[in-house]
Amino acid sequence: MEKGKTNTPNKVELVLSNVYNLPPIPQVMTDVINLLNKPNTSVSELSAVISKDQSIITKILTIANSPLYGLSRKVSSIDFAIFLLGFSEIQNIVSTLTLIETFRNKSDKYMDQSEFWKHSFITGAAAKRLCADLGVQGGSEAFIAGFLHDLGVSIMHRYFHSKFPSIVEKIADEKISPSQAEKEILGVSHEEIGHYLAEKWNFPDNLADIVLYHHDPMNAKINKKLTLIIHFADYMTHKMGIGDFKWDRDLELNDAVYDEFNFKDEIEIENFMMEYKKFLTDQFEMIRFLN
Ligand SMILES: [Fe+2]
Ligand SMILES: [Fe+2]
Repeated sequence: MEKGKTNTPNKVELVLSNVYNLPPIPQVMTDVINLLNKPNTSVSELSAVISKDQSIITKILTIANSPLYGLSRKVSSIDFAIFLLGFSEIQNIVSTLTLIETFRNKSDKYMDQSEFWKHSFITGAAAKRLCADLGVQGGSEAFIAGFLHDLGVSIMHRYFHSKFPSIVEKIADEKISPSQAEKEILGVSHEEIGHYLAEKWNFPDNLADIVLYHHDPMNAKINKKLTLIIHFADYMTHKMGIGDFKWDRDLELNDAVYDEFNFKDEIEIENFMMEYKKFLTDQFEMIRFLN
């Protein structure tokens, strides 16, 4: 994969260069994401990658044996778990586990980390299902893009901790968007930070681009449709009141969603979203097992 050829703004690098201890992304996640982009990956390849990490094996087996899957026989091997849960489910679980583990952070009154992860996971799950329902290619990529979309917020909270309260206060006082407040106080937005990290970790360009444009999907450079899906999923989780992550909660739905996916009006969108309610609520169960 090529690196460093994109439009990462220099100011992001400048801001983040003050952060010396940004964690590297665990190898297992990069490997799993890269396998996802490769056609015809076999169970044994995926299994070999996952098996390097004992804590992931244990958690995948816990999930496979949880009531969520309602299996009557015990799952004790990783190959069998891959067979049962399916390829893309395993990739999603590994990405989720690794990122949560890497960026585990303390909550305070300005940010609830557990709500942040729930929002990330549910946006990913919604995006993946939206792809299937609306006939958009790239379902498993959609999960990861949805899961990563707001990672910049968590990074900001952890690494620019002293400035974080001013951002929160600015959003409340001036009724401006979080991205606007972030830029004014920090010089960069959460989209830009997430994009920078996705590139630094050598994630596929498409993922980095979606993260950068999740609030401005029609300007996405690589895949507008998938970026619009992530935006729609993000909007949906806020609008349906799934979780209590406050960042971006006043998000407005981009009009392009109507044209692109043939929705007549707001009522049609509302009805469509209602069909996701149970599904999204069930995803909370999943994140409970991942935690
Ligand atoms: Fe966002
Ligand atoms: Fe979001």
